[in-house]
Amino acid sequence: MSERPQAPRGTFDVLPDQAALRLAVERCARGALEAAGYQRIETPVFEDTDVFRRTVGESTDIVQKEMYTFEDAGGRSLTLRPEVTAPIVRAYIEHGMHKLPQPVKLWYLGPCFRYERAQAGRYRQFWQLGAEALGSDDPAVDAESILLLATILDELGVRGTRLRIASLGAPASRARYRELLQGHLRAHEDRLAAEVRARIDLNPLRAFDSDHPGTREVMASAPLLLDHLDAADAEHFAQVRELLDAAELPYEIDPTLVRGLDYYTRTVFELTSDALGAQSGVGGGGRYDGLAEQLGGAHVPGMGWAAGIERILLAAEERPVPAPICDLYVAVTGNVPGAGGPAAVAAFALAAEARRAGVPTQIELAGRSLKGQLKQAARLGARYVAIVADEGIELKDMQSAQQESVDSAGAVVAHVLRGRHA
Ligand code: HAM
Repeated sequence: MSERPQAPRGTFDVLPDQAALRLAVERCARGALEAAGYQRIETPVFEDTDVFRRTVGESTDIVQKEMYTFEDAGGRSLTLRPEVTAPIVRAYIEHGMHKLPQPVKLWYLGPCFRYERAQAGRYRQFWQLGAEALGSDDPAVDAESILLLATILDELGVRGTRLRIASLGAPASRARYRELLQGHLRAHEDRLAAEVRARIDLNPLRAFDSDHPGTREVMASAPLLLDHLDAADAEHFAQVRELLDAAELPYEIDPTLVRGLDYYTRTVFELTSDALGAQSGVGGGGRYDGLAEQLGGAHVPGMGWAAGIERILLAAEERPVPAPICDLYVAVTGNVPGAGGPAAVAAFALAAEARRAGVPTQIELAGRSLKGQLKQAARLGARYVAIVADEGIELKDMQSAQQESVDSAGAVVAHVLRGRHA
């Protein structure tokens, strides 16, 4: 026997119970985001590879090892999006959104792709919920954005959350700090992990992320970027903190907070949950005031975040999945599988009429006996069962178990509608 195909490693099927939970997350997030003026946007699942190379950064894990990049039949290099911020800024520039009142606030929900080592909470296809505000560098944009994610996670019952924030400052002060840090790393090179050593030139900041004991010791005495911000950036960060305090949102300042993407400037933040294992990041983001220029656009400051739907669900309290509603089950007597006949046709017409009237209706589709159909109706939690026979229609109230003759399909629908509103 040949092998049966399975979903590719690191991917998963969203089965109906999970789909219902995901829909609940989407509804909650959409409610909070749209109430705050964010509008939905959708960009393609793949982009020109350059969109990510120029923004996420050549030295990042994402660009170096995790992108699903392929050449199409026309010889273009395309990449399945590993994230959505760069595509949104691409769309902002492409559609001249600078002409709209600023900031332009956009939210999204869709699949992203990273070739990562698959484990619980880490997948190769995962869904990101995200929000981006483009066109203003006001610290209130940062605070509002962070507060929105914290509120959404709270409403969804995500347990044990911790918010960490920091500021990376502007590129110029970061460049000066980088040299300082590189000096420190070189002075202690022999105690560093090989991969940290290899990245001293390319990405020294990632050294803060290392679990290697020697590296951790060296980093304990490393200079901190937060102590080397220029005055304007330090003031911006102070204002963001003041606004978060005013909103009574607890946070920790983490001077070693490292994000896996290169486009950040100024504010960065991450929300983690104790309820998750190693992959504790539920959501994160920050400000990216240089991203539009990296894509050849004008200067457009931006701020936003993304959160993984799967991680939200892993970290949230379990909630019962609501059963689909069935107000009317249409049964047929004398039913012979696939045989049709006038009663089966009348039953089908009745179901169509009930659905047109907005009644959640199901119809017998498996040729069960009448007893079997009534059992199936009970399993579905049907409020009424219409039993259609050649001689006429009987309507059974499943709550009172009363049954009466009804003279037309219209009368069945009217009765069910009255029952629903009673
Ligand atoms: P990120 O931290 O790379 O940021 O990803 C955001 C979230 O996506 C993570 O916190 C996590 O919940 C989820 N995630 C990432 N990788 C995986 C994976 N392999 N499996 C499951 N979930 C995953 C960004 O992508 C930025 N674009 C966020 C942002 C928006 N910054 C500014 N605006």
